[in-house]
Amino acid sequence: MSSLTTPTALDVPRIRADFPVFEERFNGRELAFLDSANSSQKPRHVLEGLTEFYEHSYSNVHRAVYELGERATAAYEGAREKVRVLLGADSTREIVFTRNGTEALNLVAYAWGLSELGPGDVVVSTVLEHHSNFVPWQYVAKRSGAEFAMLGADAAGELDLEQLDEIERRGRIRLVALGLISNSIGTVNPVEEVAAWAREREALTVVDACQAAPHRQLDVATLGADFVALTGHKMLGPSGIGVLWGRQELLSAMEPFNLGGEMIRSVSERETTWNELPNKFEAGTPPIAQAYGLGLAVDYLTNVGLDRIEAHEHDLTVYAMEQLATAEGVSVLGPPPERRGGIVSFTIDCAHPHDVAQILDSHGVAVRAGHHCTQPAMEHFGIPATTRASFYLYNTREDVDRLLEGLAGVRATFG
Ligand SMILES: Cc1ncc(COP(=O)(O)O)c(C=O)c1O
Repeated sequence: MSSLTTPTALDVPRIRADFPVFEERFNGRELAFLDSANSSQKPRHVLEGLTEFYEHSYSNVHRAVYELGERATAAYEGAREKVRVLLGADSTREIVFTRNGTEALNLVAYAWGLSELGPGDVVVSTVLEHHSNFVPWQYVAKRSGAEFAMLGADAAGELDLEQLDEIERRGRIRLVALGLISNSIGTVNPVEEVAAWAREREALTVVDACQAAPHRQLDVATLGADFVALTGHKMLGPSGIGVLWGRQELLSAMEPFNLGGEMIRSVSERETTWNELPNKFEAGTPPIAQAYGLGLAVDYLTNVGLDRIEAHEHDLTVYAMEQLATAEGVSVLGPPPERRGGIVSFTIDCAHPHDVAQILDSHGVAVRAGHHCTQPAMEHFGIPATTRASFYLYNTREDVDRLLEGLAGVRATFG
């Protein structure tokens, strides 16, 4: 936690009142939404702000000289500034808007990886990664002739940094890609330590912060990373917007990713030159309203306080792990609460995760079941899937109690 003082508790009932979805009933029950790691719910501040934007300020950006175009451009670029402040970045040139977190990571893999990597090079990802920060690296390594290495983990699902010595013997380390918080089991990875290791070897570090940015205060300089990816839909924003932060000198030197309008400076038959940052990486009409909506979400999160959100989720995680430890046949995966985000993944001995999720749904409890786009992690644990409960600022201990009540229902049905 970045604050030196203990953050004050959240006023959760007040926060819930900001989210219209909690007025709905699901299977006759109030919604216990425990799937924010998948995608979060949206507050009125975002929903109404988007309607207002579309009604009063919408047009394409950068191209229009009329007032509406100026309003839209100011809204779009204003959102970029909010994200810059959120991440502690030096310049808005370092903030590239993408469609989602996946595209942010692919951008680096394609634009940096395909032209920089070659035989003798090693690209490292980890067994805990979301496929979005695993598959692009495996793919560009294959295409470029570089070696792809997967850093493993221990039985608790914490990265085994000792393996780095063996990985280093395979060639020249060029890049390490790892997540700050694992989406499937919640592990908080030692990103700063890994980034320092990479830097000593003149290698780059790509941090997937999709599960971290919504829940804790980040600072790109402190992380020591070269690129950081995040996604709007998991942090109260709309879908269709992601962010890539990258060090300016790296982004400047990189090849473009998508080619077309907006990303060019001049085009002729003989030659095309690239636009300034960040436009060089924002080909075509960008996700204008989505970026604006993300800016509104950042306002909301900042107003509540990310330190307070992190502390609240920690409290829920501790409570959930205590409660699940008392539930018959339930095994929780992953590290202790001190080294995990607000994610609790588990199996139950009597039912498949999909059946568990279905029964929980009948209790008005929404969780995710499956491999969570982390098949290497599932293989590591020797299981095909888990049930995952994930927490956010609008969750309560009652939601956890509802989860436990639903699991009792699972046992009554399958046990
Ligand atoms: C850790 C992590 N990385 C990347 C992604 C991909 O994000 P998006 O769905 O925005 O492409 C996710 C989404 O589940 C994720 O949890």
